[in-house]
Amino acid sequence: MANSASASSRGKAVKEAHDDEEKLKEDEKKQNRNANKKKKEALGWMEWLRGWLYIIYEMLFQRIMASHLANPMPLTPINDLTFIVTGSTSGIGREIARQLAEAGGHVIMAVRNTKAAHDLIRKWQEDWAGRGLPLNIEVMELDLLSLESVARFAEAYNARMGPLHALINNAGIFSIGEPQKFSKDGYEQHMQVNHLAPALLSILLLPSLIRGSPSRIINVNSVMHYVGFVDTEDMNVTSGKRKYTSLVGYCGSKLAEVMFSSVLHKRLPAEAGISVVCVSPGIVQTNVARDLPKIVQAAYRLIPYFIFSAEEGSRSAVFAATDPQVPEYCEMLKADEWPVSAFLSQDCRPTNPSEESHNVETAYRVWEKTLELIGLPLDAVERFIEGEEVDCRYGASKE
Ligand SMILES: NC(=O)c1ccc[n+]([C@@H]2O[C@H](COP(=O)([O-])OP(=O)(O)OC[C@H]3O[C@@H](n4cnc5c(N)ncnc54)[C@H](OP(=O)(O)O)[C@@H]3O)[C@@H](O)[C@H]2O)c1
Repeated sequence: MANSASASSRGKAVKEAHDDEEKLKEDEKKQNRNANKKKKEALGWMEWLRGWLYIIYEMLFQRIMASHLANPMPLTPINDLTFIVTGSTSGIGREIARQLAEAGGHVIMAVRNTKAAHDLIRKWQEDWAGRGLPLNIEVMELDLLSLESVARFAEAYNARMGPLHALINNAGIFSIGEPQKFSKDGYEQHMQVNHLAPALLSILLLPSLIRGSPSRIINVNSVMHYVGFVDTEDMNVTSGKRKYTSLVGYCGSKLAEVMFSSVLHKRLPAEAGISVVCVSPGIVQTNVARDLPKIVQAAYRLIPYFIFSAEEGSRSAVFAATDPQVPEYCEMLKADEWPVSAFLSQDCRPTNPSEESHNVETAYRVWEKTLELIGLPLDAVERFIEGEEVDCRYGASKE
């Protein structure tokens, strides 16, 4: 009896060892298959064509698609809510900041040109006089071309120990036709201003967003991400595999932002109550075209019917930052394990971001590479959620 029991347990052990060996072989085969799978080096031409068709469609029909929206968008009172709006001295950001302040919100203009922001506040207060309490609006310095400035901004804001209800990452650049430029941190400027710096800001401000929960991170993105591509081994587009143009830089940075947002949306636990949303403002007449040749700028002005004013372009971001249905929609995407974060179109309706943004493997690579480049550990989000201190390579303690 004892012999047969030990024989059966020996048999079981042999079978388990055999199974383990089979599993190892299977894993090895899987790894080889993955290694042999050719890494995607660019968008497929069909994807690229569909992307451009979508952009042209948006340009031609955005006014019709958004015809149900009032302008300016009516806002429910948002007293007691605090908003940070980056790049609020010009274009879409300026409109977002003014409207949120006029609806009673406490607005922090996060800008590099603080004098321009103070001048704007003075003008807005004058225009607002007699219509209600003075606007609750202030200025803090932030230069997205310096990750140290981003870390300093976040440290100063978090030190207030107050809540943050919405961070609106609006500031962006599209240096059309300009030669490739790098920040002092060594990153291609579109990638830094449009993706890396807002990513760092979003994560470093998590302690304040947690205090303000339910709260939101809104990224002013672009339909141009539909023709963007990100190579995580060549974020600066310097390897020579792809030729750099400002279009490549801009579209890639906007796609990187969507992919990073998708992973951030998944990694934030539902209990944290922080919604992550990307929005498209539409095609908008702003200073973003400041680098276009004069003749193209003139043509821009000749087609006002198709192009939104800055006020019209601000609607999707203002909606994303204030509408009560938005957090519910984000929760639903999370519960459904949808692979991408919420994306709202210029007409404030949910839409699907580009096909490439659904590439979950690349999105995780973008997440990891971004954290490496902005000097944060891979578990930064989880540690902030646990209330721990997290060191950033660009933080004051590292100076
Ligand atoms: N206009 C469009 O058709 C369109 C379409 C799709 C998406 N977008 C996106 O909308 C957002 C707003 O753009 P916009 O059209 O309103 O352009 P804009 O008029 O040029 O405004 C951009 C804002 O970003 C700020 N900014 C630029 N570099 C910065 C830096 N290093 N640090 C801090 N702030 C910086 C600018 O500040 P300064 O005034 O100091 O330069 C300005 O306030 C951008 O993310 C853009 O990509 C625009």
